[in-house]
Amino acid sequence: MKVKQSGAKYSKITEIGEKVKKLELSTGEKYLRLNQGVNAVCNINLTNVVSQIDFNSKDIQVYPPMKGRPVLKQAINKYYFGNNANTDNILVTSGGMSSLDLVFQSIDVEKIYLPQYFWGSYMNIIKIRNLQGDFYFDFAEIEANMVKYKNSAVVICDPNNPLGDKFNDDKLINLIERLSNIGVTVIIDSPYRKVFLEEDKLYESVFNLENVIIVESFSKSIGLSGQRIGFVHSINLELNLELAIKLMYASNGVNAFSQVLVEKLFTTKEGLKAIKDFRITTTTDIYKNIEYLKKKKLIAEIFYENSQPKGIFTVVNVSEQELLTHKIASVSLSFFTTINKEEASKYARICVSVPHKELVCFFDKF
Ligand SMILES: Cc1ncc(COP(=O)(O)O)c(C=O)c1O
Repeated sequence: MKVKQSGAKYSKITEIGEKVKKLELSTGEKYLRLNQGVNAVCNINLTNVVSQIDFNSKDIQVYPPMKGRPVLKQAINKYYFGNNANTDNILVTSGGMSSLDLVFQSIDVEKIYLPQYFWGSYMNIIKIRNLQGDFYFDFAEIEANMVKYKNSAVVICDPNNPLGDKFNDDKLINLIERLSNIGVTVIIDSPYRKVFLEEDKLYESVFNLENVIIVESFSKSIGLSGQRIGFVHSINLELNLELAIKLMYASNGVNAFSQVLVEKLFTTKEGLKAIKDFRITTTTDIYKNIEYLKKKKLIAEIFYENSQPKGIFTVVNVSEQELLTHKIASVSLSFFTTINKEEASKYARICVSVPHKELVCFFDKF
């Protein structure tokens, strides 16, 4: 059998996870898994939400509406857009990865520009779909060369994966407005924002702009990476139709159980409490972890000159190999960039969304 190879790579983060599992088995010792990309301070407690779901109903057992359940889309509109969006412009998808794949395939642009430190999957999707990827240095570089990005798309990830840095929101909104106005397609993929910002003005400020596409996921902000669900918002009707068609023929809709679950989280007293408790516990420990690493002078300050380390990731000035000798799994920063990989390999991305006590226990040995 002949296979069409895309050249995309299997996830390095998964590979490291497998390596650590083997190390734990062979040494009988525990490793701290900071290579992962999910909030792991606590789980979201779904007990009082799941009890409200009727599993013996059509809601769960039959194909869901192709563009997403209307009640879920109304809940998304309220939670993310202050009820100001049109639910027809919201498409429920199978999470951020799938949304990005649908969007990248559907926009007719010269290039897709990524931040110089970027989540590797962006590039893999670009490769699989045979598109053109390129990089921008930082937001200041975009501002200084706006015209260069005309006819292209720019991906904005804030707080960023892998740096975990947060840019000033007013400046960001201003930049997005100006880009959209000159015809640059702006893809906002910032699934870590809602962990930190309950009241987030970004989406409400830019969702109505002609060239803005918002990609959102429930994997990070409400801890449901296992459910594979998220959404896309755009006011471009042609794009929305194309995304819906592609979604239909790729997966025949989005898992009905996950849709009902998220719907209950956003629309019931118990659900909103579960989200709030999850967010508070998670952000409290993320904050403590970053402060602790700052005190130990382990944060790679060079990456935070114009922004703040916010989480859920942070870059430390220790290599992946050295961290591993201290039984800490991380991902070398060189994996997240194509520029000066050798220099980047002196640093590692760690996930700081883990219980504070656990992180201290491993890093105190430094
Ligand atoms: C920046 C970024 N965008 C999107 C995603 C996709 O998340 P999911 O496919 O679980 O929604 C991730 C996951 O790690 C991510 O880091």
